[in-house]
Amino acid sequence: MNAPTDLKTFLAAQEKKSLLRFLTCGSVDDGKSTLIGRLLYDTKLLFEDTLASLEKDSRKFGTTGEDIDFALLVDGLEAEREQGITIDVAYRFFATDKRKFIVADTPGHEQYTRNMATGASNSDLAVILIDARKGVLVQTRRHAYIASLLGIRHIVLAVNKIDLVGYSQQVFDDIVADFTKFAAKLGFVTQAAIPLSARYGINVMAKSPETPWYKGPALLTHLESVDVDTALEENPFRMPVQWVNRPNLDFRGFCGTIAGGKVKPGDTIAVAKSGRTSKVTRIVTMDGDKEQAVAGDAVTLTLADEVDISRGDVLADAHARPDVSDQFAAHLLWMADEEMLPGRQYLLKIGAATVPAAISELKHKVDVNTLEHMAGKTLGLNEVGYANFSLAQPLAFDPYKDNRDTGGFILIDRFSNATVGAGMIDFGLRRATNVHWQALDVNKQARAALKGQKPVVLWFTGLSGSGKSTIANLVEKKLAAEGKHTYLLDGDNVRHGLNKDLGFTDADRVENIRRVGETARLFVDAGLIVLVSFISPFRSERRMARDLVGSDEFIEVFVDTPIEVCMQRDPKGLYEKARAGAIKNFTGIDSPYEPPEHAEITVKTVEADAESHAEALVEHLRQRGLLG
Ligand code: ADX
Repeated sequence: MNAPTDLKTFLAAQEKKSLLRFLTCGSVDDGKSTLIGRLLYDTKLLFEDTLASLEKDSRKFGTTGEDIDFALLVDGLEAEREQGITIDVAYRFFATDKRKFIVADTPGHEQYTRNMATGASNSDLAVILIDARKGVLVQTRRHAYIASLLGIRHIVLAVNKIDLVGYSQQVFDDIVADFTKFAAKLGFVTQAAIPLSARYGINVMAKSPETPWYKGPALLTHLESVDVDTALEENPFRMPVQWVNRPNLDFRGFCGTIAGGKVKPGDTIAVAKSGRTSKVTRIVTMDGDKEQAVAGDAVTLTLADEVDISRGDVLADAHARPDVSDQFAAHLLWMADEEMLPGRQYLLKIGAATVPAAISELKHKVDVNTLEHMAGKTLGLNEVGYANFSLAQPLAFDPYKDNRDTGGFILIDRFSNATVGAGMIDFGLRRATNVHWQALDVNKQARAALKGQKPVVLWFTGLSGSGKSTIANLVEKKLAAEGKHTYLLDGDNVRHGLNKDLGFTDADRVENIRRVGETARLFVDAGLIVLVSFISPFRSERRMARDLVGSDEFIEVFVDTPIEVCMQRDPKGLYEKARAGAIKNFTGIDSPYEPPEHAEITVKTVEADAESHAEALVEHLRQRGLLG
């Protein structure tokens, strides 16, 4: 009957120990997995059966002869073993008498920087592995830089495979000097450097005689004692509301995980965005009501007043509120194969809130090797930049350096739902706060009524030479003949003026359509029937234009002409030039066209002539009651 009591004592002792979350990073083959395996194995937390299967697997796959291959302990997935690389973030738990540890094992391949960022955002310390034979690599610098960007303030330089350089102090000192020079600008609070051999356990658990010149502690001793007190509880109170629990009329609770500070009944909190305040009445948890809750606790709060609060709102200390703005400056780590496009709308997710957002300006890119700033228009895979962001609506946030949860965000592609970037907010931008909508007495309806029509956008999209402008021109002529007020925005023409500065890269096309979308919106506000004739090759930007104008005043017309026919027509001789390589980024040749999936109208120019298509379009407008 002793066991349960022992277990309780054991668990209670575990509870009291401090927790260190750290991540390991390094290049492929630097020995991360071996090191983690060694820590897990030597801290004796392995179950016997895991050991047994480990010994068996070592013989089957191992690269270490008859010795146990520690990497196999952590490289759990078959696929990874067979490829010999780690491809996902894995969290492992181990403990010693002094401390508990959660270690994030992150892959070293460059294309997996995303995983490293995920691991880093939850860690207080990073162990950066270096192969003593190779020294500081670009990848080492990248990892150190990303770790610092993601708020890690404590770093261990693990100079591994020291046995393979004859335990040379010179090699070790040179590597440390090289790294220290680079890391000087990264703001690490503690930086330890340890010569070790993960494979032979040298300086991992205890100091080894092979490196008498090394005066510091063994890795585990350092991890057990390093002071990383992040004092999250000292921060102002923050809780992003995950959901509102309203089981009946008498109970209304706001559920979420506390992202900073602490809270107790009686505290005055504010809803960050609306500014409304109230007092906390109860802290409800699975184990009954609590007297206090702190950062990291998942709780339900009830308030003294009926305050309008919904998912995505942030509850905050009324005396230390977060920033609220629809624009901010942030560091951005790009994680997608497709380049980042300023002006394109992505979904920005921060805490429990998700809003459409765009990068309004890329200020600079960062060379991860030298930390120098470089000019750039876009970001490619794994590149880091500093940019201004513009959100569809204001959000509450803190600078990332003050709070990683309320200051960190991800960007999501609107069509694929993939995470394409991770951002760290620097500060809110106030530039638009004093610009308000001016209420005008003559409005859209009045302007349209004067013209005896209803405003609308007919958005023609299709390949160059598909017939967009020809049909749009005929439609406008017919409308004009009926006394309607129209305006035709044509790609070639607008590119001679408003968009003279833009070319045909993806980034420029995004900006091209953004400006035309905004212009179409103004013309609709003027009460006009607006015809837009642009290739507008990307779904994202056509969607943005639709959102800008409003779906009920936006008619997408897909001029669906096969590219072979467009090439044959080649009215401006551009296809011939593009095929000869004289024009770059030509739509349909070496630049993509994404056909609409839900256009209101599809026009097949090979099936009928432009005149009858134009007639049908005017008829469509009449049917919809837009022509008065
Ligand atoms: S869009 O892709 O940004 O929407 P837009 O409609 O403004 O294109 O301009 C397309 C017109 O520019 C074409 O009709 C063609 O006359 C001309 N043009 C010149 N170079 C290119 C190119 N590389 N790709 C497409 N069109 C081009």
